[in-house]
Amino acid sequence: MKKRYLLAPGPTPVPPEVLSAMSEPIIHHRSPEFATIMKEALDGLKWLFQTESTVMILTASGTGGMEAAVSNLLSPGDRAICVRGGKFGERWAEICEAYGISPINIDVPWGESVQPEAIESALKKDPTIKAVFVQASETCSASVHPIQEIASIVRKRDNTILVVDAITAIGVMDLPVDAWGIDVCVTGSQKALMLPPGAAFVSVSDKAWHFNEASKCPRFYFNLKKEKAKAEAGQTNFTSPVAMVIGLRKVLEMMREEGLQNVFARHERLADATRTALRQLGLRLLAVGIPSNAVTGAYLPAGIDGGAFTKKLREEYGVTVAGGQAQLKGKIFRVAHLGYADTLDVITAMAAVERGLRAFGYPLELGAGVRAAEEILFGNK
Ligand SMILES: Cc1ncc(COP(=O)(O)O)c(C=O)c1O
Repeated sequence: MKKRYLLAPGPTPVPPEVLSAMSEPIIHHRSPEFATIMKEALDGLKWLFQTESTVMILTASGTGGMEAAVSNLLSPGDRAICVRGGKFGERWAEICEAYGISPINIDVPWGESVQPEAIESALKKDPTIKAVFVQASETCSASVHPIQEIASIVRKRDNTILVVDAITAIGVMDLPVDAWGIDVCVTGSQKALMLPPGAAFVSVSDKAWHFNEASKCPRFYFNLKKEKAKAEAGQTNFTSPVAMVIGLRKVLEMMREEGLQNVFARHERLADATRTALRQLGLRLLAVGIPSNAVTGAYLPAGIDGGAFTKKLREEYGVTVAGGQAQLKGKIFRVAHLGYADTLDVITAMAAVERGLRAFGYPLELGAGVRAAEEILFGNK
């Protein structure tokens, strides 16, 4: 027997009580019983997003939510800023191109956070820009972009909306959608929401709904206007992911019990301990701007291949962490601490990382990282 620990930045582990709720018999998606569950889940999503707007549930992975944002709000020929600080920022630009929208790319070295002034000056240079697409947490570079500052720039412009991929940010860090003026916020089920993959959640502000009226992109499956009307009736446009919505209601109940600020504080504490431990082991962290509290990335010491390292952790210790993507492939590893994650998950991860590094000949004092993490996680207790 090998016990498995899923410590990658998505999918993340699903709590047993949620798995159990999801295994209840499937009910009909147009029944009053399901509408009640939907309404409770949708109320919970509003609470989580800190918004008064309807949050729509799409049966898709997170990228489906991103695509819906582009195709429902813009028109071919529009211009939009895409902040490209990693693979997911690049995805915004790719989706825009697929719909005939011209991306104006603001490239940020992976691991850095975008300078809000760069966005402001691009908007000044071209006032016809319709949207700014950005990640709140760029999972592949384990970094965040300063959304509050970006939002304060965009909200002053009537003809520009801010669209945030918060797929590894919602439920991790404070991202008050209404208070900051995030026009469209997208997240996915398999991250901090502690659910299996398969659903995307999207909020749309009143300002952005005006863009929807003018939007001329082709669309069929992802029709946010239809989804909004259905959501308000406790349904989805097509067959609902029934078990997912039942699980969603359960995770939101658990998160409400913990309290939103406590959820953020837990993520911050786990992230802080992970970063401190890895630094203690002499590793260089990937984030040089603002680090994400969802995931921590670190460069492997020279001579250790990332693929071999993550394989060793998975096969020998049962610990799944993520490797690097694109140009970072083989060079880094990423340890997640989001969703159903707590104190001893960090200790497990650090013990596995220490063992793995040692197995590849890296000189370290075994237990040094674990101790550094423990000091943060347990304090003087
Ligand atoms: C920041 C971010 N954006 C987008 C995605 C894509 O989501 P999905 O793979 O669910 O389509 C991910 C997934 O890891 C992500 O972390």
